[in-house]
Amino acid sequence: MSEEEGRRMEPRIVYREYVYPREDGGAGPSRELRLRIPEVLDSEYGMYVWPCAPVLAQYIWYHRASMTGKRLLEVGAGVSLPGIMAAKCGANVILSDSAALPQCLENCSRSCAQNNLTTVPVLGLTWGEVSPDLLTLPPIDIILGSDVFYEPKDFEDVLVSARFIMERNPNAEFWTTYQVRSANWSIDALLHKWDLRCVNVPLREFDADRECLAGSALPGRHSIQMMIITMKRDPLC
Ligand SMILES: C[S@@+](CC[C@H](N)C(=O)[O-])C[C@H]1O[C@@H](n2cnc3c(N)ncnc32)[C@H](O)[C@@H]1O
Repeated sequence: MSEEEGRRMEPRIVYREYVYPREDGGAGPSRELRLRIPEVLDSEYGMYVWPCAPVLAQYIWYHRASMTGKRLLEVGAGVSLPGIMAAKCGANVILSDSAALPQCLENCSRSCAQNNLTTVPVLGLTWGEVSPDLLTLPPIDIILGSDVFYEPKDFEDVLVSARFIMERNPNAEFWTTYQVRSANWSIDALLHKWDLRCVNVPLREFDADRECLAGSALPGRHSIQMMIITMKRDPLC
């Protein structure tokens, strides 16, 4: 390979910081949590932070007191801002993205390295596929998914994977943010089909109803929603 070709193949990476001030004061660097997220300047999905991610990270930050020791799996993690936040707040985190997209799995690992989280496992988990990695997952309390409902053709596969994990972990919750891209898209029928229920969490409840979060203007004016999906407990509901 020529030097020129090598240069062309090297990913161009930019680093963005997300800054979370601690209201409880503290001194020096502990006055805030800084997450450093590498983004690849490439048109491939998952190579940068999507507007839903700062909103889900804000939800985790808001609930950080309960994160210690929780077992979390992020699906479709891309550059993994929510998962990185959870790990920094004391959760045991596994990051995952499509097994067919090794460059996205590299992103997960790169984000971990930038935040000194070298022991966080990164797995290839493709929605809707039952793979050995899915079958051998350890117990999970919370599944994270930021902007994983962005292609209607994938909605059912995302829910099937979540449902599979919840069957093995009946108290698990799926925390997910999505961007309203079309008034015609809905997961209601699929939730019903897979015996799942969903509660919407208004953004104002966790201080995320702002155009700028953690120093990032990404949420902007996008219409972003947060929901928590769980297994239906009462078969009559
Ligand atoms: C819209 S991006 C969101 C990325 C990241 N969660 C965020 O919010 O910044 C969708 C993510 O889903 C991943 N993805 C796409 N198809 C997938 C599949 N079939 N199984 C698992 N992950 C998939 C992509 O690689 C990408 O990281």
